[in-house]
Amino acid sequence: MKALVLAGGSGSRLRPITHTSAKQLLPVANKPVLFYGLEAIRDAGISDVGIVVGDTAAAIEAAVGDGRAFGLDVTYIRQDAPRGLAHAVLITRDFLGDDDFVMYLGDNFIVGGISPLVDEFRSGRPDAQIMLTTVPDPRQFGVAELDDAGEVVGLEEKPPHPKSDLALVGVYIFTPDVHEAVRHLAPSGRGELEITEALQWLIDNGHKVRSTTISGYWKDTGNVADMLEVNRIVLEGVEARQQGVVDDASEFIGRVVIESGAWVSRSRIVGPAIIGAGTRVERSYIGPFTSVAQDCVIVDSEIEYSIIMRGASVRGVRRIEASLIGHDVEVTPAPRVPKAHRLVLGDHSKVQISS
Ligand code: G1P
Repeated sequence: MKALVLAGGSGSRLRPITHTSAKQLLPVANKPVLFYGLEAIRDAGISDVGIVVGDTAAAIEAAVGDGRAFGLDVTYIRQDAPRGLAHAVLITRDFLGDDDFVMYLGDNFIVGGISPLVDEFRSGRPDAQIMLTTVPDPRQFGVAELDDAGEVVGLEEKPPHPKSDLALVGVYIFTPDVHEAVRHLAPSGRGELEITEALQWLIDNGHKVRSTTISGYWKDTGNVADMLEVNRIVLEGVEARQQGVVDDASEFIGRVVIESGAWVSRSRIVGPAIIGAGTRVERSYIGPFTSVAQDCVIVDSEIEYSIIMRGASVRGVRRIEASLIGHDVEVTPAPRVPKAHRLVLGDHSKVQISS
């Protein structure tokens, strides 16, 4: 069995962060979301992985390399534009050969991995296996309709009037039958070849599509709140670890991870929290469910329930919460006089200012 990981796409729903970063590399507990997927694939016993990349190819390739660090053998396949998930299957035909394969969307996060799904597929080998989960707003997903016996009878991509609240999770398992299905598709309303329609084609042509319903699922549906929530769930599972330098005037409560080369002085950290390698925390309070990435500076500040990305600095600001702070951002207090806001904000920024 092989795996096809899709890591193209523009990530428009998490702008402005994704203007400059691949959405699959957004950090969850200081690790790119894509890495959790690659580890889940390896843990399911699969080592031959094709990664489909687009405009952010260079960043993805720099982060994952040849895959050896994950115990994987990675091949990169370029998709010229985001032409859909079924298009990705079309262009990877040679890589996939006649093997069964897992298709994994690199911006999805499955708590507990994919081994149960892969085992279930192997036990019955249906023509395709999908994962479903209940979501509050199914209109943002592919939606499945099941009959009374739990069989999948219909699938629709982002329907305005969904027939159920069961969304397609971004992990699918296919037999080579899917190759015929994707050859029959025409571009959808959004101009893409939809894998949801390929699954419908399989059903319409007498193939067996089996589903499993899971809980513990996250996808970048655009709101920062969701991302903070998945960060919280992953931090819940971390073990305390102290590799950096911490002075006697600092206090840690609960599970706090201090990565090597981090430096903490006269600060209070309440876990679960993680402080990345090379980061300096001075005279500050870091509260629960906070991930501070590598090479950040937090001085005279208070932060909780937030994600701070690599190279960011926060100085003299109390208090930051429920925030997502991008790479190399500088946060400082505004001067009191004159009373005016001076802003340099990228397109699509969302800023709250009390004035
Ligand atoms: C894609 C699929 C959709 C699925 C979702 C899961 O949506 O088309 O059916 O529910 O992934 O992540 P997209 O990310 O292209 O909007």
